Amino acid sequence: MSELHLSVRGLHKWYGAVHALRGLDLDIPKGQVVGLIGDNGAGKSTFIKILSGVHKQSEGQIFFEGKEAHIRKPRDAMDLGIETIYQYTAMVPEMSIARNVFIGREKRKWGIRGFGLLDQKAMAKEAMEAIADVGLHLRSADNPIKELSGGQRQGVAIARAMHFRSRMLILDEPTNHLSVKETNKVLDYVRQMREQGVTVIFISHNLHHVHEVTDRIVAFSRGEKVADLMTPDTDVTQMIDIIT
Ligand SMILES: Nc1ncnc2c1ncn2[C@@H]1O[C@H](COP(=O)(O)OP(=O)(O)O)[C@@H](O)[C@H]1O
Ligand SMILES: [Mg+2]
Repeated sequence: MSELHLSVRGLHKWYGAVHALRGLDLDIPKGQVVGLIGDNGAGKSTFIKILSGVHKQSEGQIFFEGKEAHIRKPRDAMDLGIETIYQYTAMVPEMSIARNVFIGREKRKWGIRGFGLLDQKAMAKEAMEAIADVGLHLRSADNPIKELSGGQRQGVAIARAMHFRSRMLILDEPTNHLSVKETNKVLDYVRQMREQGVTVIFISHNLHHVHEVTDRIVAFSRGEKVADLMTPDTDVTQMIDIIT
């Protein structure tokens, strides 16, 4: 068996009286593409938010490469090599594409008074290279993110993940509100990441997409894991049965 990337043990999350995760145990080997499915409110996003440092678990442990990880803020997740892509991905719309690529990892140069000035030029150049590497063609990295389409934004987020060699990519409903063409592009990105050996957790309501791009499918219902299957051993009809 290949090396484990992520293990969680007895993970619980309460939001006040709402018990959103009820003792989740899950092991994910390195490089596996896992589809996470389940009805609305099943706890999928809660799990992802705990991994990405948005929420703290109420109980339970998280291990990365065998070592216990204490993820208290998004920066901790970033340091573990986790990149999370939401429907409206973690970006600042008013800031330039380049600044968004380098968010939390800004390049600086030294000013005459010894202040660390942002090295906009170097960031713009490197951002354009990173974006071109994922096959996305944008005119300039100086334009604000808000001028991009949803699909282009996902592309920039993927470029960021690839450029900084994220070891785990989490996509939570990344294709909602995207055109068919843009959706196909996102699915292609997932395949690209898989080829590069990146571990992926892919959440989508579109079970056909999940079946197409994953190695394994895990289903949640009311905060619990209710199915865990290798993708070739299941089909969309069975997946629908499991989550309804
Ligand atoms: N920030 C929050 N505050 C209170 N309850 C929440 C919060 N986020 C999620 N929940 C509740 O937790 C449960 C799981 O939600 P969520 O993890 O978003 O499920 P999913 O992503 O599978 O649709 C739901 O009952 C939801 O209403
Ligand atoms: Mg969700």
